[in-house]
Amino acid sequence: MSACLRCPSLAAAGVIAGVFLAGACFEGASAQPRINADDGPELRTLYANSQDVAEGKRIVESSCAGCHGANGVSESPGVPHLAGQRPAYLYLELKAYQAGVRGESAMNNVVRPLNDDALFKAAAYFASLDPPQTSAANSANATAPDPVQAGKTAAAGCVGCHGDGGISKTPGMPSLVGLDPKYLVAAMKAYKSGQRKNDMMKSMLASVTDASMNNIALYFGLQKPARAQTPAAGDKAAGETAAAACAGCHGSDGVSGNPATPSLAGQDASYIASALQGYKQGARSDETMKGLAASLDDSAVKNVAAFYAGQEPKQPNVRKPQTAEEWAERCDRCHGINGNSADPRLPALAAQRLDYLEKVLQAYRTGARKSPQMAAMSDVLTDQDITNIAAYYTRQKARGVVFVILQSKSGTK
Ligand code: HEC
Ligand code: HEC
Ligand code: HEC
Ligand code: HEC
Repeated sequence: MSACLRCPSLAAAGVIAGVFLAGACFEGASAQPRINADDGPELRTLYANSQDVAEGKRIVESSCAGCHGANGVSESPGVPHLAGQRPAYLYLELKAYQAGVRGESAMNNVVRPLNDDALFKAAAYFASLDPPQTSAANSANATAPDPVQAGKTAAAGCVGCHGDGGISKTPGMPSLVGLDPKYLVAAMKAYKSGQRKNDMMKSMLASVTDASMNNIALYFGLQKPARAQTPAAGDKAAGETAAAACAGCHGSDGVSGNPATPSLAGQDASYIASALQGYKQGARSDETMKGLAASLDDSAVKNVAAFYAGQEPKQPNVRKPQTAEEWAERCDRCHGINGNSADPRLPALAAQRLDYLEKVLQAYRTGARKSPQMAAMSDVLTDQDITNIAAYYTRQKARGVVFVILQSKSGTK
């Protein structure tokens, strides 16, 4: 059996060997690490023989099958599939549970009484099984919504007043473009809770969920900014002088660097004026702005509004969330093509249970499960990213690990 011609170190080691992952030799060659028998004790799982696997099967049937399934395909929420999982990875994780480095009371209790030999054999057995197939239930999760598109759809009823792309054409209606999504979400929530008093906006947002607000804000945050297409009566030069008092927070050109402080550049002038009235009269409660607004008389308000309305708005600091496919390009560097790891020490992700993938990605992010590589990777993931990535990997086809149990030395030469 010449299963792994392009993995010379493996073939050379091929005494009584479970030849690992022929597929990886052909297509993941660049990512394929060189494996030497003396690399680490976990790699012993690569050299399991048929007797080890048979003993592993007995151990699994008595101690593991109740949760992981006798065929390594789990039927239980939160319990991972183990069939076809990479052998050295399985062994390393079992050691981690045994040492208490990875915590999960069910698993810690199961492995504590087992000796090293039993862990090695159970790992070899699970690794030798056919991997799970992607199920219909998994595929149903296939279409993760694009948040920007969802935001655009949800904002369809808003643009009549706020203008296409959030650029106002109507005096008194604020532009929503050029504002940080965090500010937009906070403003929407303030209307909804009644903390910011405006009955019309309150009823407008009554049935809009938090998730939808996030999408709407993201959509407007990503639109190309332009000044409101509304008139601005007032003395811009006088306004610029008065605006010196505002620059520290709103930016000298009206572009704020702080998500909690709205940008004013290019905003509709009548809205700026009515917002300042709102602070003066209490429709909006912000102590700082109340004091500042009180210090401006009507003509100063008009002038400041004209000055800011004439400034050039800028795109806030938002990036379009990456799609699962874009993320996967980064994950696959370690986890193999479409999550089919070519390194026996790194887990395959393809066709793994959706609920399990979500659970462990959350656990890496919070630090409950520790791994330096995965902490760095998962730090930047949002909840939505995790949902999308888990849905992506759960529906990838798991590629069969060619786990050939060689009977004798003569079999390889
Ligand atoms: C009581 C149910 C239960 C039993 C019995 C059980 N497991 Fe588990 N196993 C779990 C759960 C739940 C997890 C996921 C825990 C986590 O998130 O850390 C898990 C995780 C694992 C993992 C980590 C998989 C991965 O992809 O990281 C391995 C390996 C494993 N089990 C092997 C075994 C073996 C071998 C046995 C028998 C000796 C066994 N388990 C018995 C419930 C069980
Ligand atoms: C009928 C016209 C109208 C519609 C439709 C409308 N708005 Fe408004 N919106 C307003 C007005 C007027 C204000 C200013 C209210 C105030 O003075 O606080 C406002 C204010 C806002 C603000 C605060 C802006 C700021 O700079 O603080 C946000 C955010 C907002 N609207 C979002 C939305 C969203 C999202 C929708 C669609 C779900 C929507 N609006 C639909 C008229 C409308
Ligand atoms: C100490 C920081 C600070 C200073 C100085 C300041 N602002 Fe503000 N401003 C804020 C914050 C924070 C908000 C948002 C408050 C809220 O959520 O209602 C705000 C809100 C506003 C708004 C409402 C914008 C919108 O989209 O609804 C206007 C208009 C405004 N400021 C104008 C001014 C003017 C004019 C000055 C100078 C006279 C000024 N601000 C000075 C912090 C400041
Ligand atoms: C630099 C290499 C590297 C990269 C890149 C990487 N991972 Fe991992 N990943 C690992 C290692 C190492 C482990 C095993 C860590 C442990 O023992 O907990 C792991 C474990 C996992 C697990 C747990 C599998 C299981 O069966 O329990 C998941 C899920 C996972 N990674 C998903 C991802 C995703 C999603 C990405 C991309 C966003 C990613 N990884 C990127 C190295 C990497």
